[in-house]
Amino acid sequence: MTNPATTTQQGGAIPAQPGPREVTGVTDSAVPGTKPGSGQAIAAGVQGVVSGGQSGRIGGESAARSTEHAAVPGLGSSVAFGPGHVPGAVIPGAGPSGKPGSRPTVKLREADPDDPPRYAPEWLELREPADAAGRAHDLLDPLRIRLANMPGKSGVVIHDLGCGTGSMGRWLAPRLDGAQHWILHDRDPYLLHFAAVSSPRSAADGSRVTVETRRGDVARLTPDALQGASLVTASALLDVLTREEIDTLAAACTGAGCPALLTLSVAGRVELTPSHPLDAELTQAFNDHQRRDGLLGPDAVTAAAEAFSEHGATVRLHPSPWRLGPEQAALTEQWLRGWVGAAVEERPELRAEADVYLTNRLAALAAGELRVTVHHVDLLALSRPGGGAS
Ligand SMILES: C[S@@+](CC[C@H](N)C(=O)[O-])C[C@H]1O[C@@H](n2cnc3c(N)ncnc32)[C@H](O)[C@@H]1O
Repeated sequence: MTNPATTTQQGGAIPAQPGPREVTGVTDSAVPGTKPGSGQAIAAGVQGVVSGGQSGRIGGESAARSTEHAAVPGLGSSVAFGPGHVPGAVIPGAGPSGKPGSRPTVKLREADPDDPPRYAPEWLELREPADAAGRAHDLLDPLRIRLANMPGKSGVVIHDLGCGTGSMGRWLAPRLDGAQHWILHDRDPYLLHFAAVSSPRSAADGSRVTVETRRGDVARLTPDALQGASLVTASALLDVLTREEIDTLAAACTGAGCPALLTLSVAGRVELTPSHPLDAELTQAFNDHQRRDGLLGPDAVTAAAEAFSEHGATVRLHPSPWRLGPEQAALTEQWLRGWVGAAVEERPELRAEADVYLTNRLAALAAGELRVTVHHVDLLALSRPGGGAS
């Protein structure tokens, strides 16, 4: 269950996007500079916070629960896995920091090794445009129809689970008509702060968009927590959940009778052009790594479709791939490093081959000769309004 943390209001200055150094300093405060649970208002202006101004994410942050702060020694631009590589430290798909001495972008050290992984805002920002380009527009019309037919509503209440820095809201809010109140859920107070301050102000028709944040574990949501919800959304979340957690989520959504738009779940398939004999083996190893600790990884979207169907919802699936060409080289590099890194962590015997593979792939990328498609799936589940099956 989540705990109310902070209510935000629009307007005011937007802080620059802090980096991982500041992340490590965050403790229990829901928003830096505010008291936990105080409901203290924070400035929530819009312009300039997240460059690109669209939604996004990268494929496959699942599996490993441990994280670290600094770049992994030996993970230079040409050496994939040095002697300082820390087993279990990779957030698959997120990729390690790029070059020796560069600022860490996706790997953050936790005080407690049992703490869940934390996602660097730089990583979420990097993937946001590719996510936006991949999202399934075809699921929007059925969703709009459902929202428009909700009885007695002057506006909608949307819960964004695992909101990160809020890319889902930046993409979806301006595509829906009518007043919207977004309730942003995440366990990371630092990301919640970003999400709050960079949320959109206006709906498609100019209606007001407001936002509040709730810090907590979205894997334990109950129908009560979703009381009054018009829609549940999530983006790049399902593959880091277990089957039980997804079933809990499906039960909560269907129990509350609200639709769910659960986007950008990894499909476990990637296409690299030109192809290489090691592609399939690395894909398999990466997918196995994602399934560590009972997480669903590439099986998540199937599990979610089954769970929502079993709870009586009507489920639609639609592809939402990243199509990465020369314009997305920075994202491709991070993804590639994380993908190969996780695969080797899963199958250490691949290390020598994978090191050469990564070096050559990065060289091809730098030369503009590598294209990557990372397949994802978006899911829309329509429950019967008022709870139960549709
Ligand atoms: C891959 S990021 C995606 C963030 C954002 N939805 C996006 O698309 O950019 C996953 C997010 O889910 C959050 N998260 C993962 N598991 C969670 C849980 N059990 N409870 C709350 N938040 C969780 C993480 O903190 C992170 O912000």
